[in-house]
Amino acid sequence: MGNVEILVLDFGSQFTQLIARRLREFGIYAEIVPYFEKFEAIQIRRPKGIILSGGPASIYEKDAYKPDVRIFELGIPILGICYGMQYLMDYFGGKVERANAHEYGKANLEIKTQSILFEGCKNGAVVWMSHGDRVVKLAEGFSGIAESKNSIYACVSHEKLRIYAVQFHPEVAHSQEGGKYLFNFASKICGASTDWNMKNFAQNEIIKLREKIANGKVLCAVSGGVDSSVVATLLYRAIGDRLIPVFVDHGLLRSGERESVEMMFAKNLGVPLISIDASELFLGRLSGISDPETKRKIIGETFIEVFEKEAKKYNINGEIKYLAQGTLYPDVIESVSVKGPSKTIKSHHNVGGLPEWMKFELIEPLRELFKDEVRSLGRELGMPEVMLMRHPFPGPGLAIRIMGEVNKADLKLLRQADKVFLEELHKSGFYHKVWQAFCVLLNVKSVGVMGDNRTYDNTICIRVVEAVDGMSATFAHLPHELLESISNRIINEVVGINRVVYDITSKPPGTIEWE
Ligand code: XMP
Repeated sequence: MGNVEILVLDFGSQFTQLIARRLREFGIYAEIVPYFEKFEAIQIRRPKGIILSGGPASIYEKDAYKPDVRIFELGIPILGICYGMQYLMDYFGGKVERANAHEYGKANLEIKTQSILFEGCKNGAVVWMSHGDRVVKLAEGFSGIAESKNSIYACVSHEKLRIYAVQFHPEVAHSQEGGKYLFNFASKICGASTDWNMKNFAQNEIIKLREKIANGKVLCAVSGGVDSSVVATLLYRAIGDRLIPVFVDHGLLRSGERESVEMMFAKNLGVPLISIDASELFLGRLSGISDPETKRKIIGETFIEVFEKEAKKYNINGEIKYLAQGTLYPDVIESVSVKGPSKTIKSHHNVGGLPEWMKFELIEPLRELFKDEVRSLGRELGMPEVMLMRHPFPGPGLAIRIMGEVNKADLKLLRQADKVFLEELHKSGFYHKVWQAFCVLLNVKSVGVMGDNRTYDNTICIRVVEAVDGMSATFAHLPHELLESISNRIINEVVGINRVVYDITSKPPGTIEWE
C-alpha cells in the first residue's frame, strides 16, 4: 500500500464515497478505509489528514463505532463529519444528545469566526443537514465557528490541535460551498498535494498491481463493457501475458458486438484477448426454455462452465492465483459490507457461482472509483469513446430481451431492430442523454397492412430510461417526431416487424429489463 494524501474512515454513511470523490475532483488523492482499520495500516500510509465520515449510529449507544484512538497521536489534522463530529466531541469530553427535532435538508451556514476552513467561501451558504443527534456541550478547547438555525454547533474547531468538525454533509452536491470546505481542509490545513489526476492514477495503479502480483497468473472475464475492459487493460500493462483475459460470446450479443470488442482489444489496447465463440452451446441449452429465471440460470451456469474450461487450459501448474473484477465503488456499498459498515442493500457479484478451485484471490483495481472516473481512466488507457460511453448491457444479453423462448431467427430480428433504433438515437443525440435504450422482442403478433397486403407479424417494444444508477428509473420523454422516425425505420427496414410500441413504465414498479 502506498501513501495517500487524505484517509477517510468510514462509519457507514451512504455519502462516504462522495468525500473521496470530491477531493479527487480537486486533484487530492483520498482513499476510504473502514473505521476499524488497524492503526498500523493507517500509519504506514502516512496520510496528511484524516476525515471521519458520517454514519447511522449514535455515539451514546453501547456498541457505538469507534476508531483506534492512536489516530490522535499522529499529530495530523482531523475533520469529523456528522457522526464523525459527534464521535470527536464525545471523545474529547463534550456531550451529544438526541435532538428534539431532527434536522434533515437544507440549512444556511452562518460563519461566526473566520477560519481557514471557510477561506474563499461565502457566508450564509446552503449546507445539507441529516442528523438526529447533536452536540449540546463542546469539548474543552473547542469553539463553535459557524451555526445554522437549528444547530448552534454546525461547525466547531480546535485550532491548536487542528481538529475540525461539521454537523452537515459538505460532500453532497446540495452543500453549495461543501467542496471548498473539503478542499480547504485537505489542501490548506493538511497540506495535501493537488497534483493527482487520472494519468498518475493509471501509472500508480500499474506499479501497485505489478508489485502485488509478483508472480502467478490473473484470470479476468471480459464482457466488452467499460469496467472489465479497463481492468483487463490496466492488468495487461502491469503484468503482460500473465493476464488471461477471456471473452465469452454466448450468442446473445448485439449486432457487431463481438467484432467491435475484439477490434478494440487488438487495435486500440494491444491486449491479446482470448475470445471464445460458445454461441452454439448456449443457444442449444436455451432451446425450448421460456421461463425468465430458468433462462438466466442456464446462461449463468453455462458461462461458468465455459469460463472454467478455458481457465483450466492456462492453469497448468496451478499458476492462476488471482481473479480480476471490475467492481466499482457503488457495487461495493451495495454489496455485503465488504469494506465498511454501510447497510447491506443487495449482494452483488460480477462472476458469482465459481467452482471451489477457482476461488482465487480477488483483484479489484476500480473499487475506489465511480463510473465516470472509470471512463476517464479508460480514456487515459486509450479506449475509444464509443466503448467508453456505451450503455450498460446485462450479462444474459438479448436472451432477457426476447420474451419467451430464444432462437436464432428471433435474435436476428431483435438485432436488426436494435441496430436501427440505436442509429436513430445516436443521430438525434439522445443516446448520451439517457441511461439505457434498447429494443425488446415481444413475441406478440398483430395484424397490419403494408402496401395492399395484410401482414401478421411481430411487435418490437422500445425501452428508454433515465436513471442515475439503475436502481430506480423513469421512462424517457422522447420527442414524438423521434419516436415516429424510429417506428417508421424499424417497420420499413426489418422484415418480420409490423408494429412498434413504447414502454412508459418507470422503475419501480417495472424493472428496466423485461425479464
Ligand atoms: P433491472 O432490470 O433489474 O436492471 O431494473 C437494472 C440494471 O441492471 C442491468 N441488469 C443486469 N446486469 N447482469 C448484469 O450484468 C444481469 O443479469 C442483469 N440484469 C439486469 C440492467 O440492464 C439495468 O442496467
